[in-house]
Amino acid sequence: MDSRISGFYKLPVAKRRAEIAERADLSEEAVEAIGGTGLTEDLADTVSENVIGTLEYPISVATNFRIDGEDRLIPMAIEETSVVAAASYAARMTRTEGGFETDVDAPRMIAQIQAVDVTDPQAARMRILKEQDRLKELADEQDPTLVKFGGGCEDIEVRIVDSPNGQMVVTHLIVNVQDAMGGNAVNTMAEALAPEIEELTGGDVEMRILSNLADRRLARATCTIPPEELADEDSEFTGEEVRDRIVDAWAFAMGDPYRAATHNKGIMNGIDAVTTATFNDWRAMEAGAHAYAAQDGYDSLTSYEVDGDGNLACSIELPIQVGTVGGATGLQPVAQAAMEILDVDSAPEMSGVLASVGLAQNVAALRALVSEGIQQGHMQLHAQNIAIQAGAEGDQIDEVAERMIEEETIGQSDAEQFLSELEE
Ligand code: MEV
Repeated sequence: MDSRISGFYKLPVAKRRAEIAERADLSEEAVEAIGGTGLTEDLADTVSENVIGTLEYPISVATNFRIDGEDRLIPMAIEETSVVAAASYAARMTRTEGGFETDVDAPRMIAQIQAVDVTDPQAARMRILKEQDRLKELADEQDPTLVKFGGGCEDIEVRIVDSPNGQMVVTHLIVNVQDAMGGNAVNTMAEALAPEIEELTGGDVEMRILSNLADRRLARATCTIPPEELADEDSEFTGEEVRDRIVDAWAFAMGDPYRAATHNKGIMNGIDAVTTATFNDWRAMEAGAHAYAAQDGYDSLTSYEVDGDGNLACSIELPIQVGTVGGATGLQPVAQAAMEILDVDSAPEMSGVLASVGLAQNVAALRALVSEGIQQGHMQLHAQNIAIQAGAEGDQIDEVAERMIEEETIGQSDAEQFLSELEE
């Protein structure tokens, strides 16, 4: 499958859908779901409470991605313009050097058990660690299916946390959750172990819940971009200048949390869009990403340097907590279709894709910000959309859009007029 689809954005929606259906070899149900209303009222009523209707998002596909040697189409659900186009643009720039490469940790979630009013925290810690084999067994008994598929509680750690209410003994269960997001599995284990921890610490166990700082479940992606990909002939800057300015933009985010927040927000634009499209928990992803970025003072999740060949070497590392089994995906037919488009076999594989999308999004944002700025791109996309709404097709779309930008008048009636002039 080739993820490069020339002129994809110029096609009408139904033709785009047909193109993706063919390339991704989508099932009939998936095609039907994408083209209709995915979440019926009855299904919606099982997802949440007090439901009064449903809310539709556009579902789009980012093109050009090549990840670990395989071309991939990326489903994205987002209400912000430019995100999908930017991801596709950046992915195209990475292709000459082979696209993205990923490296993903085993899918390990952490559950925390908090014990308070412990008279001797150090001794309590030792007692828990001494019993860790028994505790791991008890945790595994809560989820035999997970254990059968190779997962389960792999480790127990005990931390003594200084808090405004004094020291607390915090036990971490490190659980391999396989292809699930794993929240339910680890919460059940934490609740089951609470009485044991209470006995071993002699204190009171209060909280028993997963940590979204899922730093045992990190995903990394890298890509290399030659300077000539970073600037076209109309650019004010050479490719080398854009490259060096991107490294400065990254350094800005490393040095200043005000900038880092926006820099990382741009990364999450892409990651959240895929997480939303697949009905995964984007709030968990957000919490994990920003907490991870804040570990040594809040800074960038990505990094950039110039490699020995003068290329821009780009990388990202962040916790990714998503599942390909369980969760709410199965309840939403469009999300299931999005999983078909994504075509991943496991949660770690999906994590590598998400990390690559986050990196692409950041590369695209920084490239635009250090050169022409983002408003020009926004304006172009807006003009193209208006041209499409006015009935422009194929090459007419760019021609009508360019004319509106040149004449500094972007609106439905202008588009209709320029289109009729073109057709004369
Ligand atoms: C907008 O949603 C995202 C950007 O602000 C990201 C960034 O500044 O790096 C463009």
